[in-house]
Amino acid sequence: MASIDPKALRSYTWFNGKEYYNFSRRANLRSIGFSREIFFGKPVIGICNSFSELNNCNAHLRGLAEAVKRGVWEAGGFPLEFPVISLGEQFMKPTTMLFRNLMAMDVEESIRANPIDAVVLLCGCDKTTPAMLMGAASANIPAVVVTGGPTLSGNYKNQPFGTGTDGRKIFDLYRTGKVSPEELQEIEGCMVRSSGHCTVMGTASTMASMAEALGMTLPGNAAIPAVDSRRAALAEASGRLAIELVAEARTPRSIMTWEAMENAITVDMAIGGSTNAVVHLLAIARRLGLPLRLDDFDRISRKTPFLANLRPSGQHLMEDFFHAGGLPALMRELLPQLHRDAVTVNGKTVEANVSQAVCHNRDVIAARETPLHPEGGTVVLRGNLAPDGAVFKQTAASPHLCQHTGPAYVFENYQQMHDTIDSSDLPIDENTVLVMKNGGPKGAPGFPEWAHIPMPRVLLEKGVSDCVRISDARMSGTSFGTVVLHVSPESAIGGPLAIVETGDRITLDVAKRELTLHVPADEIARRLAVRPVHEPHYTRGYGKLFLDHVTQAHEGCDFDFLHAE
Ligand code: FES
Repeated sequence: MASIDPKALRSYTWFNGKEYYNFSRRANLRSIGFSREIFFGKPVIGICNSFSELNNCNAHLRGLAEAVKRGVWEAGGFPLEFPVISLGEQFMKPTTMLFRNLMAMDVEESIRANPIDAVVLLCGCDKTTPAMLMGAASANIPAVVVTGGPTLSGNYKNQPFGTGTDGRKIFDLYRTGKVSPEELQEIEGCMVRSSGHCTVMGTASTMASMAEALGMTLPGNAAIPAVDSRRAALAEASGRLAIELVAEARTPRSIMTWEAMENAITVDMAIGGSTNAVVHLLAIARRLGLPLRLDDFDRISRKTPFLANLRPSGQHLMEDFFHAGGLPALMRELLPQLHRDAVTVNGKTVEANVSQAVCHNRDVIAARETPLHPEGGTVVLRGNLAPDGAVFKQTAASPHLCQHTGPAYVFENYQQMHDTIDSSDLPIDENTVLVMKNGGPKGAPGFPEWAHIPMPRVLLEKGVSDCVRISDARMSGTSFGTVVLHVSPESAIGGPLAIVETGDRITLDVAKRELTLHVPADEIARRLAVRPVHEPHYTRGYGKLFLDHVTQAHEGCDFDFLHAE
């Protein structure tokens, strides 16, 4: 066990001393069945668990917690597991994003309020990882992240099948009658083969990679499959590490520095990460007091090669990524542009962690000299339609649409889009730019993943599989297509997206990073002046707190009062 002075422990003031409550706390700890000898004077390692059977992606985390406990016991600590709210992407309505900040507050306050000397954060599904990182950043007590890992690769009729990405493609075939209801039912059983999070480079895999690139996990954490025994071994090692974190007083803010943040963005660009990472990293940065801006993503994207051939931007799945060497092998390729000296949670630098990593499959992880694309996955667009920016995933878009001008067809909201998208008389063609309003943080509300507007049936039937789509919503990290999203400011608070009318011409120019509405400025001003005022979606409870305090997409959508002072 690392040398730790019991009197220096944060938990010391809870359990030691001569006050009544010191005695009472010890007595109540013993009520769980722990003897005095097993906890007295030892560092308390909290295991912050987002396990829930309402979150299938995190349903196996109780098992991982047991592995963490083994490591803590072995290193001479005293582990105590506790729950926090879990955000199951598949089940929660209206959207998990409405509750990310609630979970981050739960994590922060649960850590701060309790006798914890260090914490191991167990997470996995999309929002649970950023919420843990946000909470840990604010609490700033030594912490290490262990994500749940991706599911085994889906497989249907001997074809690899990625959750989300391939599911959407199959469902489009089902909508047009090319897949039968019986086949769809069979696929249902093949898509998600085990515990774990989505097995493409969606938001969960991206945020696991961000946690690793920020230095908040042990090397290799992101890609180990959920049910691989090596994930339990990594969880056990993280439990051991927690004792070292206490001894060294190694805190999240000493790890998640500006350099670490730039490293994470570089990795995000090289893996073709989910666009959601932009919002989450902006939120984490604000918790840390780092001056991260949307333009920093584009600055880094322009100089970062895209290397990971993973769906939805490429062909392979997370299991393939793991066998190819995982994130350490990819980060080794990026070393020339990473901050090599950034110290990670294990006390070693990025360079020490990844310099010996080996790539076992160049079809999965491209060499820096022969990238899949010269630039990173995500770019930032600006223009009179998005004065505060918009986000675009160029590696998952159709190249022929990345420079495109066409007439808008406008959906005023998600419901209107949903009700009419499959109409046989929808007056659109392959040049149309689909625009959807009221999908932002306040307008939807909660900033749901509506931006991947399904391809209209009239186009699918003509064999058109992609068209330009624009909204102020987010989209799932498993999604793909020529989709402009996170348009900011959002339409519900008077962003220019609010005044687009069907027939207006719009230009998307990815190379120039421009998004232009071809309507004169005075006409835009005239339309904005007569914009209708919407009633708030919530007048009480958490929903009202959210509406009153959530920031815009380009600011990370955290609550304004949770930013670092
Ligand atoms: Fe949980 Fe995709 S639904 S990670």
